[in-house]
Amino acid sequence: MPSLDDFEQTAKEKLPDWIMNYYATGTGEEQTLQENKAAYKRLRFQPRIMCADKHRDISNRVLGYDVNIPIGVAPSALQSGAHPRGEMATAEGAEKCGTVMIMSSWGQVLIEDVAKSAPNGILWMQTYLNKDRRNTQNIVQRAEKAGFKAIVVSVDSPCVGIRKNKGYQGGDQFIKTLKGEVAAKGFVNYQGAVDDIAKARASGDDRLFKYAWDQSLSCPKWEEVEWLKTVTKLPLIMKGIMTVENAKQAVAVGAKAIIVSNHGGRQLDGLPASIEVLPEIADAVKGTGVEVYVDGGIRNGSDVLKALALGAKFVFVGRPALWGLSMDGADGVAEVLRTLEHELKVTMTLCGCSRLSDIDRSLVIHEAKLKCKL
Ligand code: FNR
Repeated sequence: MPSLDDFEQTAKEKLPDWIMNYYATGTGEEQTLQENKAAYKRLRFQPRIMCADKHRDISNRVLGYDVNIPIGVAPSALQSGAHPRGEMATAEGAEKCGTVMIMSSWGQVLIEDVAKSAPNGILWMQTYLNKDRRNTQNIVQRAEKAGFKAIVVSVDSPCVGIRKNKGYQGGDQFIKTLKGEVAAKGFVNYQGAVDDIAKARASGDDRLFKYAWDQSLSCPKWEEVEWLKTVTKLPLIMKGIMTVENAKQAVAVGAKAIIVSNHGGRQLDGLPASIEVLPEIADAVKGTGVEVYVDGGIRNGSDVLKALALGAKFVFVGRPALWGLSMDGADGVAEVLRTLEHELKVTMTLCGCSRLSDIDRSLVIHEAKLKCKL
């Protein structure tokens, strides 16, 4: 079975450099991007021998929905760069595996078309708290009507992080960097503020890059979440929580779940790896009923097991799904998820776990705690 590294290598060979660069890179010195993966390597297993069963059950429930695997697809923008069917194919891939796909509001396919392409999928809609509330409201209410099951509010992007490498620096640079077919599809789901959108189009920004960019990076405050609750009945999930304090605020404001995430190292460089802050955040919200998920740097089944052991109920992968999408559309996304599923099951057995409820913190130790006898 190929590993996720093989998928990445294939994507690199297949995709034009500028698209690969947009997908793969991070901000600043890319410290957080690298630490997301490195931090998993600093964790080791303490298995329980002679207690695994041949049969492993990794089904789970998230926000009341049954999922076949505890691994879903994180929202990522501009998926037409990886495959012509973009977000529709990603949704189908997740549906094939009986798991969650979060669609980005910066997607290039209509919300309604994604819902139609995966009628039995568990689809969640991501949004920023846009400058003009009409845009957020439009995205959220269309998603609700189309059958999406939850709203994921990304709260870690008051402005765009510093891009030093060949990626984008700001709106103008981003527009220049995104070319051809991918650019042509634009930000199709920005439809709320019709008058301003018409103005943006008239100014020559016909693909709405500048407009959506400016709308999304709006420095929202916590009160904005209170407003959001008044325009949708769907449960709210807050994505981009990296501290205990913010996790408690998310609980207080009524979030039903939080995603511990540093945006895959694409916003504030210098943040810890998400797996490093997961345990304290999971402890802080214990007993509130708020579910805790994590993303960032998960590249194999042992990473998944470590995240579950340290308090996540569910995990998400961002870039790996894009590698699968670029290889083979929906089937490629499903293959990435199945690879993780297979690796998780094997690692569980080797650790002595037969079901997810067997997984707890005692299975993982930080390398700093291993006593060296040399
Ligand atoms: C993202 N991410 C992201 N997050 C979000 O809330 N809204 C978005 O539109 C995007 N767009 C986006 C584009 C691309 C190309 C990437 C790679 C990521 C962040 C994403 O949801 C997730 O937090 C990270 O990708 C997780 O890290 P890994 O799995 O990619 O290491």
